[in-house]
Amino acid sequence: MSDYEHLILIAKQTRDNAHAPYSNFRVGSALRAASGRVFGGCNVENATYGLTICAERTAIFKAISEGERGFDAISIVTDTDVLTPPCGACRQLIWEFCGDIPVILSNLKGKIEVLQMRDLFPKPFDASSL
Ligand code: THU
Repeated sequence: MSDYEHLILIAKQTRDNAHAPYSNFRVGSALRAASGRVFGGCNVENATYGLTICAERTAIFKAISEGERGFDAISIVTDTDVLTPPCGACRQLIWEFCGDIPVILSNLKGKIEVLQMRDLFPKPFDASSL
């Protein structure tokens, strides 16, 4: 199994844990650390809506809180024909912790698209801006 296929599988499996009773839009993500560990994340919604956290940020916060630093790829899986890219807030967070990594978009039918963070998030505000 290729590296990306493994990340897609973990994102797909983690998507099953999504708590999305308000949008019914279930998202799974998987983030690979330089150490080799892979962290899955799903979206977790809330009745206030605004406290919802996306799958990508769940994966990032899990990894960071486990002491991981340095990441080399992230996958995102949804059940849509048009693949789902990360939202603006997640792009900011992915850039902060991962920089210019590949973002692997996929759906349940096996469609795959690989994008680079520098293309998804041009002209970032980051530590070098301060
Ligand atoms: N969502 C994610 O988890 N990741 C994305 O990249 C896009 C949006 C979630 C947030 C919310 O629970 C639902 O999808 C609808 O916006």
